[in-house]
Amino acid sequence: MMKRILITGGLGQIGSSLAPFLRNKYGRENVIVADVREPKDVEKVEPFVKLDVLDRNAIDKAIGQYDIDTIFHLAAILSAKGELNPQLAFRVNIIGYYNILEAGREHSLERIMFPSSIAAFGPETPKNNTPNDTILKPRTIYGISKVAGELLGLYYWEKYGLDVRGLRYPGIISWNSLPGGGTTDYAVDMFYYALRGEKYVCFLREDTVLPMMYMPDAIKAITMLAEANGSRLIHRTDFNIQAMSFAPKDLVEEIRKYIPDFEVEYRPDYRQKIADSWPKSLDDSAAKEEWGWRPDYDLSSMVKDMIKNLSKKLGVEVQ
Ligand code: NAD
Ligand code: SER
Repeated sequence: MMKRILITGGLGQIGSSLAPFLRNKYGRENVIVADVREPKDVEKVEPFVKLDVLDRNAIDKAIGQYDIDTIFHLAAILSAKGELNPQLAFRVNIIGYYNILEAGREHSLERIMFPSSIAAFGPETPKNNTPNDTILKPRTIYGISKVAGELLGLYYWEKYGLDVRGLRYPGIISWNSLPGGGTTDYAVDMFYYALRGEKYVCFLREDTVLPMMYMPDAIKAITMLAEANGSRLIHRTDFNIQAMSFAPKDLVEEIRKYIPDFEVEYRPDYRQKIADSWPKSLDDSAAKEEWGWRPDYDLSSMVKDMIKNLSKKLGVEVQ
């Protein structure tokens, strides 16, 4: 059983929601948040350790100091940021993950959780209801690092018995933390502009359909997979998970049910090409069959909850 958990990249969009969830379940002192940057308010985040995943000694030290048995490895450079600095993305996403796997092997860790992404797919992959096992020829450094990560995890499982598990997240939407440089970030940004009464300039075309997921489902998925009975898993590090698929114009239409004056202009940039290489929807039957995956939120329930929570956070009244 997972008892002492380290979350790398724990101050990021997903870590900011995963840490409180795991702390609630496993005890605050048993979930250590790690990141290469310092938190704004360290007391709120403690136990916290400043940790660069490129520093193998620091990883070993943290594992020893906190008696870690499980790592949720979230440290990464996301797709859009990765295209602006591919060398950094290669180092953090591939060398950094290799360091985690090697530390996992040498310290005989019980489990390593690794989020892959829809970015693992590429232009040749079937776009609709994309199968779990299909063509993986991504053209972004981020996607390449995710395919490498999926395969490395599988290798460490089959060769060393290190229990590595992973799933392919779609774009994640959340209200309590900001995304960190992805192609799907527009779907979070829009809510802030709409609630502040500002016009939003969207960097993707209005008809760009992508798979998306609300944060509570993202947390549910990774913790369900972490806690799943390993003997039932046929796949290991590359589960497709699906919740909802929509284009920017669908999200605008839904937000306008609450904020009718919300104005959007479409000015696609380099991120359009990235989005065009990704699937529109995923076949997640392997996740459903092997560990019981089922999402709770669709587009309308996600927007309703986002507006409710974000308007409270921003101190804005919505009728
Ligand atoms: P994020 O960018 O919000 O957070 C990543 C964190 O990693 C940041 O806090 C950053 O400071 C930290 N980091 C960067 N370099 C580091 C280093 N060298 N050492 C230690 N920490 C470092 O990303 P996120 O959205 O929280 O994503 C977490 C994981 O989920 C990543 O693997 C990402 O690829 C995956 N994922 C996210 C999404 C999404 O939409 N958010 C979708 C698919 C997959
Ligand atoms: N949301 C992520 C990104 O856009 C997908 O991995 O980079």
